[in-house]
Amino acid sequence: MTDSGRLLHVIVCAAGAARDVGRLVALAQDEGWTVQVVTTPSALDFVDVPALERQTGRPVRSRYRRPDEPKPPRADAIVVAPATYNTVNKFAQGIADTYALGLLAEAPGLGIPVVVLPFVNDALATRTPFRRSVESLRAEGVHVLLRPASGSDSGADLAGTGDGSREDDPWALALEKISGK
Ligand SMILES: Cc1cc2nc3c(=O)[nH]c(=O)nc-3n(C[C@H](O)[C@H](O)[C@H](O)COP(=O)(O)O)c2cc1C
Repeated sequence: MTDSGRLLHVIVCAAGAARDVGRLVALAQDEGWTVQVVTTPSALDFVDVPALERQTGRPVRSRYRRPDEPKPPRADAIVVAPATYNTVNKFAQGIADTYALGLLAEAPGLGIPVVVLPFVNDALATRTPFRRSVESLRAEGVHVLLRPASGSDSGADLAGTGDGSREDDPWALALEKISGK
């Protein structure tokens, strides 16, 4: 908990859709969340860091703190959006070689709810390693919002696509999921 509301970490990966993440931040703030943006190192090139810092009033974080720096507050919830093929697979494998992945590595064990919104093209989304990662994350209680495969009758949810286009409004869907609506 922070002094101004519950703390939401928005973890941003290096996908084209990252340029629109300010919309997710705005939606979350409208819901009363205090938002901390965390990017992967690669995603720094995909976002407007000063604009996000103005919007959130907090520095965008992309690296682990130095040992002598204070520990940042723990999130009440985490949304990974856009989530790349790379970061989804690494999260599922328990790799923690970026600050973003370090936060994700601990989240299930700490009981922090996590929603993952992959933006991957079909060539990547149909790969066995990716399908296995989704399955394994879901088995740990992580919410992965994926578009049903063609012909699927699950109708469960949807995902972004590699070019940042949307079938609906995945940012809003991710926020609904994390807010428990
Ligand atoms: C212009 C551009 C757009 C990209 N879009 C995507 C994307 O939508 N989804 C994805 O999984 N990777 C995408 N990539 C590839 C990732 O940036 C790359 O896999 C990177 O290593 C991901 O790092 P991260 O997971 O640490 O953010 C894109 C790369 C470029 C140069």
